[in-house]
Amino acid sequence: DPIPPDNMHAHHRGHDPSASDKLISVVDLKGPQSGVPDKTYVLYAETKKIQLASGETIEAWTFNGQAPGPELVADEGDLVEVQLVNKNITSGVTLHWHGVDVPNGEDGVAGMTQDAVMPGESYTYRFVIEEIGTHWYHSHQQSSIQVQKGLFGAFIIRPSNQHETKMIDTTIVAHDWMTPDGRSIPALDRDDSFLQNLVEPGLPVRLRLVNAGNLTRTFSLNGAPFKVTAIDGYELNEPGTVTDRLLRIGGGGRYDVEFIMPDTPVTLAMLTDGKPVGRVYSKDGDSAPEVLEKGEILDITQYGAPTRASFDTSTVFDRTFTLILDQTYFGVYNGEAGQQWVINGKTFPNTPTLMVREGDLVKTTFVNRSFADHPMHLHGHHVQVISKNGLPVRGSPLVLDTVNIEPGETLEVAFLANNPGLWMDHCHNLDHAQKGMTMHVAYE
Ligand code: C2O
Ligand code: CU
Repeated sequence: DPIPPDNMHAHHRGHDPSASDKLISVVDLKGPQSGVPDKTYVLYAETKKIQLASGETIEAWTFNGQAPGPELVADEGDLVEVQLVNKNITSGVTLHWHGVDVPNGEDGVAGMTQDAVMPGESYTYRFVIEEIGTHWYHSHQQSSIQVQKGLFGAFIIRPSNQHETKMIDTTIVAHDWMTPDGRSIPALDRDDSFLQNLVEPGLPVRLRLVNAGNLTRTFSLNGAPFKVTAIDGYELNEPGTVTDRLLRIGGGGRYDVEFIMPDTPVTLAMLTDGKPVGRVYSKDGDSAPEVLEKGEILDITQYGAPTRASFDTSTVFDRTFTLILDQTYFGVYNGEAGQQWVINGKTFPNTPTLMVREGDLVKTTFVNRSFADHPMHLHGHHVQVISKNGLPVRGSPLVLDTVNIEPGETLEVAFLANNPGLWMDHCHNLDHAQKGMTMHVAYE
């Protein structure tokens, strides 16, 4: 059974309703408390009006007055120290490092690994970074509300062997902003149309696409052959060049896309129910967008060249779990009537807790019987996708922190239990997480 908390007041003060009442002591599960940090950041949480490129004004919740918050850039192996200061977010704030496997005590889940940081308070996170790539951070207090309002930003970790190259390296964060009158506006950063970018032909371009929205988004790149070089920050092995493939990124997921700038313009687009939004790269900085709207979806389970994977369909696992993702149509949950999202027929906290021991090889089989995508995000660990609908993954090993399971799909994913603590595993459509689709992984 989980150990009772040291800070009992976590229960009634700033507690993420999608987090649990099962608290453990995280005192021994913190990052290094001494040592001079390689990178130091201060993030101030505060309300602020922001303006989208179209001129629409949003009442946002920001870090340092920006939404998305500032992009944090660190190097592999850095000791990072981040001070969170809450200026005026009355429900309290935390920071979760999505995709970065920090010690449990630094994971930033309100009511579980810490108290929410209330107005006038501050909290310091310290951890050593062990992975590279495109990640993000966001508040994990009332996440479905706070992330929607803007309390998130990109977190980029450069490999230690990266030499200075002449490369355009940009991060693009997709999100749905909400106007005061309740309209949802899909945008890339704050650009809800097509932002123009001047790029010299011949230069390599890396676009780090972060989906910080709830819905799966389809992206297209028109005008240059490209490669998907990393997914969820994990570099793919010898990714192939493609031209007309569409990319589908679930909520919380990230794709790195690279191309060489041609003489002619390139259009990146995010397709939406209405008008697409995107970016145009051209040598004159002023070309009409040419959006690719149709194409085959890139099958990431068969993409890139095989290399030795940690797990495959013949691995003998210490623990296996089957998780059926589904919906209900009626019910009352968190005081609200309506649809709920269930795991094995239950809403959180009655969903299963996956009990593991340190060192276990764990397999979870996700079966999606509902009509919506469910990007399942496991905190503190990376999972490798072994099979999809019974077919083994044949390409580069696919190592993810957020696994999107589409309606009707069955995905087997595996991980090594190597980061003790109490962790969340939830749908990163945060409205689904809020309405039941949340569970825990706990170490015995
Ligand atoms: Cu990115 Cu528990 O979340
Ligand atoms: Cu979901």
